[in-house]
Amino acid sequence: MNHDDIKSCCADAYSRDIVALLLGDSYHPGGTALTRRLAGALTLTPDMRVLDVASGRGTTALLLADVHRVRVDGIDYAPANTALAQGAADAAGLAGRAVFTTGDAERLPYDDGMFDAVVCECALCTFPDKARAAAEFARVLRPGGRVGITDVTTDPDRLPPELLGLGARIACVADARPLDAYAQILARAGLHVTATERHDQAMLRMIDQIEARLNLLRITAPTRLSDAGVDLTAAPNVLRAARAAVADGTLGYALLTAVKSP
Ligand SMILES: C[S@@+](CC[C@H](N)C(=O)[O-])C[C@H]1O[C@@H](n2cnc3c(N)ncnc32)[C@H](O)[C@@H]1O
Repeated sequence: MNHDDIKSCCADAYSRDIVALLLGDSYHPGGTALTRRLAGALTLTPDMRVLDVASGRGTTALLLADVHRVRVDGIDYAPANTALAQGAADAAGLAGRAVFTTGDAERLPYDDGMFDAVVCECALCTFPDKARAAAEFARVLRPGGRVGITDVTTDPDRLPPELLGLGARIACVADARPLDAYAQILARAGLHVTATERHDQAMLRMIDQIEARLNLLRITAPTRLSDAGVDLTAAPNVLRAARAAVADGTLGYALLTAVKSP
């Protein structure tokens, strides 16, 4: 499968309603609480220009526009997500502050140096060419601009078979990297890492949430699960493997901030 096929598969999966049913509106461990922490670490001030890369349904971008009064551009590979995010911005009266575009994190359609900050939540792990995406973050940032990332961390050599393959890649696990590897990717793009935090408990809470919602949907809406291709026989083993991987330190979630040299 080539890089564009991987991106399309991932974007297609994340435009499905079943993902919203299982995860809620915020498609990353830690939800909006962790997004608020990330925003705090970036010390955003009103009218700054912020880019949210892989903006999903717009939850992160709209929170930043609403709470921090910044002007946000969101970009996502899935046209359906872009449309939903723009609709949510319009409905919330934030259309003047939040604009959503369909596009590729590895080829950002923005001018050099036009943003004060770039955020990217739970998505660098899915990009086939992470170095290229990081170089794009650096290119569109002004000198002294900041990057805030939250992402899945793994020790790829220790992942069990249940957490490998295309499904696991889409679930943000199979191509995730250790925390220090993300820091290196950013550093090679000219983004100096200023802080890192582990949020592995957030990953456990997300696994618990997915299990609870699967159990509920199994009773209330089994056809929605089967129509979406959810394999209820395999799910318990995958969730058990994910929990064990968090417990032994193979899988986790982290926050990183970095700055572009002035
Ligand atoms: C796990 S979701 C995270 C969404 C959002 N950041 C959040 O935390 O709610 C991953 C998102 O990355 C998007 N995506 C995947 N590959 C992409 C790419 N190459 N460029 C832009 N978006 C991409 C998917 O469409 C999906 O919306």
